[in-house]
Amino acid sequence: MIRTLVLAAFLTASFNVAAQGAPKADPEKGKVFAETICVACHGVDGTSPLANFPHIAGQSPEYLKKQFEHFKKGLRTEPQMTAMAATVPDEEVANVAAWFAQQQIKTPATPAPDKSAEVIARGQKLWRAGDLAKGIPACAACHGASGHGLPVQYPRLAGQFPEYIELQLKNFRNEIRTNDPEGMMQAIAAKLSDKEIEAVSHYAAGLR
Ligand code: HEC
Ligand code: HEC
Repeated sequence: MIRTLVLAAFLTASFNVAAQGAPKADPEKGKVFAETICVACHGVDGTSPLANFPHIAGQSPEYLKKQFEHFKKGLRTEPQMTAMAATVPDEEVANVAAWFAQQQIKTPATPAPDKSAEVIARGQKLWRAGDLAKGIPACAACHGASGHGLPVQYPRLAGQFPEYIELQLKNFRNEIRTNDPEGMMQAIAAKLSDKEIEAVSHYAAGLR
């Protein structure tokens, strides 16, 4: 009992120190960048008008900050986003991330999946159970049963454009995107066939 209390006190103290260490992110400061720069591709509120540009509303601020910083440092590359990342000063990145994290994807931003019920069912099976024989884990284990992601590391996929999900899975598989922690997504994507990628992407996009 005493040990538990001491541990709890210790954890509370360290948490407070951590919280005081970094200045609090200010979403209103981030909104200025959203309105002037990001709006062109992701919308002011992070619901993108076109599948070329991912929805970024409602992701965890940590995930958004990480990806943005990786584009700035060249750890993740894509010509348009790499150019855009350079326009935001380092000290403003947390503010921009806080703004988009606060937003919600406006549904139905992404049209209902136009795939056959059979394709969706195959995607659902992979999402929920993976494929033991092929060594593919369930996507739900890390991205959540309803695809809302698990803070801090695991991004939201529910409501995302299926085209974007497919592209990222292929980028992980082809080692074009290599900034995932411990290569966990690269290892999974390497085991997915094109048909599996198509099925699971459309299933995830339809989650709400
Ligand atoms: C000219 C179009 C364009 C503009 C403007 C733009 N982006 Fe992007 N953004 C992209 C594209 C394209 C991608 C997908 C990159 C890829 O395929 O790897 C992307 C990806 C991202 C991602 C990664 C999303 C994920 O799920 O991993 C974040 C975060 C992001 N953008 C934030 C921003 C922010 C914040 C701004 C404004 C400061 C911004 N973008 C402005 C085109 C743009
Ligand atoms: C062991 C945990 C784990 C499992 C299981 C997992 N993922 Fe991921 N996934 C991650 C992590 C972590 C990231 C974030 C990578 C980063 O930080 O760049 C990610 C990122 C992604 C992205 C990129 C999202 C974006 O916004 O750019 C897609 C797409 C994705 N995962 C799809 C899947 C699918 C489909 C499955 C099931 C076949 C799956 N993942 C299973 C951990 C996992």
